[in-house]
Amino acid sequence: MSSKTYNIGLGHNDIITRKKADSDFISFWDDQAKNLSWFKTWDKTLEWSPPFAKWFVGGTINASYNALDVNLKNKAKKTAILWEGENGDRRTLTYEELWLEVNKFANVLKFLGVNKGDRVTIYLPMVPELPISMLACARIGAIHTVVFSGFSSSALRDRIEDSGSKIVITADGGYRRGNIIKLKEVVDDAIKDLDFVQNVIVYERTKHGVSLNKKDKLWNELMKNAKASFDPEKLESAHPLYILYTSGTTGKPKGVLHGTGGYLTHLYSTFRWAFDIKDSDVYFCTADIGWVTGHSYVVYGPLMRGATELMYEGAPDYPSPSRMWDLIQRYKITIFYTTPTALRMFMKFGDSIPNSFDLSSLRLLGTVGEPINPEVWIWYFKTIGKEKCPIIDTWWQTETGGIMISNLPGLETIPLKPGSATKPIPGTQITVVDEKGDELAANTKGYLVIKNPWPGMLLTLWNDDAKYKSVYWSKYENAYYPGDYAIKDNDGYLWLLGRADDVLKIAGHRIGTAELESSIVSHKDIAEAAVCGVPHEVKGEAIIAFVVLKEGIKKPFDLLKKEIIEVVRSSVGAIATPEQIHFVTRLPKTRSGKIMRRLLKAIANNDNIGDVSTLEDGAAVSEVQDALNELKSTIKNN
Ligand code: WTA
Repeated sequence: MSSKTYNIGLGHNDIITRKKADSDFISFWDDQAKNLSWFKTWDKTLEWSPPFAKWFVGGTINASYNALDVNLKNKAKKTAILWEGENGDRRTLTYEELWLEVNKFANVLKFLGVNKGDRVTIYLPMVPELPISMLACARIGAIHTVVFSGFSSSALRDRIEDSGSKIVITADGGYRRGNIIKLKEVVDDAIKDLDFVQNVIVYERTKHGVSLNKKDKLWNELMKNAKASFDPEKLESAHPLYILYTSGTTGKPKGVLHGTGGYLTHLYSTFRWAFDIKDSDVYFCTADIGWVTGHSYVVYGPLMRGATELMYEGAPDYPSPSRMWDLIQRYKITIFYTTPTALRMFMKFGDSIPNSFDLSSLRLLGTVGEPINPEVWIWYFKTIGKEKCPIIDTWWQTETGGIMISNLPGLETIPLKPGSATKPIPGTQITVVDEKGDELAANTKGYLVIKNPWPGMLLTLWNDDAKYKSVYWSKYENAYYPGDYAIKDNDGYLWLLGRADDVLKIAGHRIGTAELESSIVSHKDIAEAAVCGVPHEVKGEAIIAFVVLKEGIKKPFDLLKKEIIEVVRSSVGAIATPEQIHFVTRLPKTRSGKIMRRLLKAIANNDNIGDVSTLEDGAAVSEVQDALNELKSTIKNN
């Protein structure tokens, strides 16, 4: 933990907001919710039957109305989305134009039989039709479930099946590093024999020519005659807005379910506090909408605030490492929000690249998704921000819906410590506890917990209340367990230290070890697999896999490695590709057969594993020691 602090803010010092929040978090959020447009106000601010929270009960609202219609009065001609394709294509949509597209598409969906509560899977590249689809679903009260366009057909199929989506929206393809990713083909493969999928809507982005099946409809054809207005559904505040699948510690990804009124309130407030958004800003968040950052801080947050934002389709370093700086210079970006992985990559390319661009429009810089190393923070602050932009290191999760811990330059000015996300947002109670749930003394590593419900909190896991309870609310009786290690320092600043569970963060993407292992063992020659994370210079963490072959398999290791990578890519996606694969004859296990991940991870990370003679579960010490010795020498020899 570095001791140097940086005093840089934007001149806000709103003590009253903090005071109000500290005195009564429920009436505080009640006040915040009044900033939104409701059809009917709520009778009760919070209904808390642990661990289920309902915010603004009795109130009715619509997310698309709050993102679009509210801006028509004063900002109809203001640019909402500046879009740039990887190949240089450009489009601009004003609030009025975006409103029109969303209304028309809501009519299209309705025409195809989509009703309130129905699920719609969206598998699109970063094109404006992605937010248009989401907002059209929201207008009807249909639940969107966006699947990151880098996921494989089998990952997509799982999500379509679990959500029971009757419509899938996709594109012929999208551009990535100059190649066309043929998304429609992935969808064809994913929905084979899924009879409940009634239609696939295909947006032609690349126009490379796709064959259409019986269920397929072209976006442009459907939009041609669509009516220009659609009355937004008046939805209960807790009406589900979307499902977003995310990896956890067990098997298949979980469908995180978010509501409407609480979620939007959380975003409306945090977008202002953290980003200090002003009418004159040009905001650029590099996240793909397939992840939660894109849902909250590309789609709903910025649009609700009537912001102008840049949306970029492709790879951040394509066709050259200067792509981001070129975008910032050309669009005069004022607020830039990206990931530590991207920053580490840019840093490696050298300072002369950003130094040759005019980045003087920037006034605030943000990061999200994984811990940021202090030296990367300082590089961001000095080389990109020229020491005049406050940095917001925002900690949050798919489940939290919005930012929970961050410097908030739009609210207050506090000294910044590189590598610390600083403090919880107003109206939340977040702290660090030990295994038993007792609050820890300053500077002691423990588990992060969130003590009160907050408005952006997930409603539950889709179709699985029991899992929702056990994953988040069973480790501690009255607190939400996010699964992160943290330290609180003497000044009450929080330092996030990575995952405490079996979730990996590879280049900021969340990947569950169980999901990966079951993908690897689906290979016919493999008996067992265990994966864990090792530090990686750019990606933060990389995947290392230990694999036990079935008896008698004599294939060359190189061929097996290739096949394993292929299996992972086709069952999860390229982001889950293991960096290293090691073949061993056994894994360290307890007597009851559980893989001893702690030891595995220690070996993979070259950490001291200490004494193994007092192993938990009465594991056979000599067997474990043999397995560990084998692992060690395998890693060394590879
Ligand atoms: C990690 C991304 C350190 C953390 C919005 C969390 C972070 C997980 C930070 C959620 C940060 C996110 N500093 N770690 N600023 N932000 N994380 O659901 O481990 O993709 O639990 O949401 O990312 O990942 P998710």
